[in-house]
Amino acid sequence: MSRQLFDEYDRSYGAVVQDSISFSGLKHDFFLQAKADLMREKISAHFGARKPDGLDVGCGVGAFHPYVRQHFARYCGVDVSEKSIEQAKAERRDVDYAAHDGARIPFPDRTFDFVSTICVMHHVPPAEWSSFMREMRRVTRPGGVVCVIEHNPWNPLTRIAVNRCEFDRDAVLLRAGKTEQLMEEAGLQKAATDFFLFLPFRAAVAQAAERRIRWLPFGAQYMTCGEV
Ligand SMILES: C[S@@+](CC[C@H](N)C(=O)[O-])C[C@H]1O[C@@H](n2cnc3c(N)ncnc32)[C@H](O)[C@@H]1O
Repeated sequence: MSRQLFDEYDRSYGAVVQDSISFSGLKHDFFLQAKADLMREKISAHFGARKPDGLDVGCGVGAFHPYVRQHFARYCGVDVSEKSIEQAKAERRDVDYAAHDGARIPFPDRTFDFVSTICVMHHVPPAEWSSFMREMRRVTRPGGVVCVIEHNPWNPLTRIAVNRCEFDRDAVLLRAGKTEQLMEEAGLQKAATDFFLFLPFRAAVAQAAERRIRWLPFGAQYMTCGEV
């Protein structure tokens, strides 16, 4: 069960991730920054200068939040791992954290503009993927965005990293097409995917090259967004 599983990693989450990707010669920070760059682009394309209210579902210890906090007006994180939430609360005062039972996100309908879930769905049992997506949609306001970032099962290096990661032993990777289908079934509109993390560099020239090939389904991760 995910809850017990991630309670074991409240202090060591970053180190375990780093260990699983060490074969690539890259730091965890590189991957967090790449996700944050793409999310920032999506937020500014959709909301313009307005800062949305954001929720991160399955936020763990909040490792991603320093990279994106400045793009949101209000920012909240929920997770089924109570120990991870305690750790996140102890480290970050500018995000509101709450534990969650894995079934109902503890917020009323239409509370947020931008609801994300990052490398979480592969830990959710496939039988619960539909209800998980419907919950994300429920707490998103009309005009808002639901955003899923996931490992791309078509990338061989991603598969190596997942196989090396001790807390991914229960992982069931979702293809981007499946994520788009789940969004459409949950009533989200215009579900579309960008693949990213093709190249191991952050130089401007590498980023410009990546921007041109985001449609190619071979990046290490992907971001699928749908609109309410
Ligand atoms: C690999 S960690 C990712 C943490 C964070 N999103 C990140 O990218 O650093 C997966 C997280 O999903 C959480 N999780 C698993 N199932 C969940 C569910 N049904 N609802 C909310 N969180 C869940 C786990 O407790 C864990 O903290």
